[in-house]
Amino acid sequence: MVKIAPSVLSADFTKLKEELDSIKEAGASWVHYDVMDGHFVPNISFGYSILNDISKVTDLFLDVHLMISQPRLYVDQFIKSGASLIVFHLEAMNNENDVKELIDYVHKQNVQVGVSIKPFTPVEALLPYLQDLDLVLVMSVEPGFGGQKFNPSALDKIEKLKNMKENQNYHYLIEVDGGINEETGLMCKEKGVDVLVAGSYIFNSDNYKEKIDSLK
Ligand code: DX5
Ligand code: ZN
Repeated sequence: MVKIAPSVLSADFTKLKEELDSIKEAGASWVHYDVMDGHFVPNISFGYSILNDISKVTDLFLDVHLMISQPRLYVDQFIKSGASLIVFHLEAMNNENDVKELIDYVHKQNVQVGVSIKPFTPVEALLPYLQDLDLVLVMSVEPGFGGQKFNPSALDKIEKLKNMKENQNYHYLIEVDGGINEETGLMCKEKGVDVLVAGSYIFNSDNYKEKIDSLK
């Protein structure tokens, strides 16, 4: 069954522990943690110190989405702060070698690693890395803000990634992020997605369980 990863970007930070407890009780097994640096994306969210606080009060799997330039410089802090999975952006990297080194580096710390692609980056750009990845994150909006409209270009990408995974026996999970609701989530599931990220759809409602159930 598909995993649901609520994005705490849309949570109420004045009562973050309550929010984390509520999504767990409502059936989420992951937390999606969106880090924005005001440089790679035109918005600033939060860094590793809040992740560290979160890791102390929840046992949910911490899916850390780094929308930052130079992820190599900060990855240690996110690992120390409890990340279960580090996802960085292909577009933030200079060359193939740097991507491979960062994947290896995170693995050596016994943390899972994923790579994300923006809507205009083709899945083929991931070919050199697919065999080593625990997850591929397909962005279905331009990263930077919650509450945007789903871009259907993600659907073809999910399908391609699913086929490549089956043909080559790769082990990565396929995750999609941006504009996910009951309808767009269903379209992604039909293409073979493994993890649905949803921020505003879940946190802007007053019944998290109903929303999470509708995505499963
Ligand atoms: C966008 C973030 C998303 C965002 C999703 O840059 O990566 O994770 O929180 O929010 P919704 O589900 O509201 O599109
Ligand atoms: Zn995200």
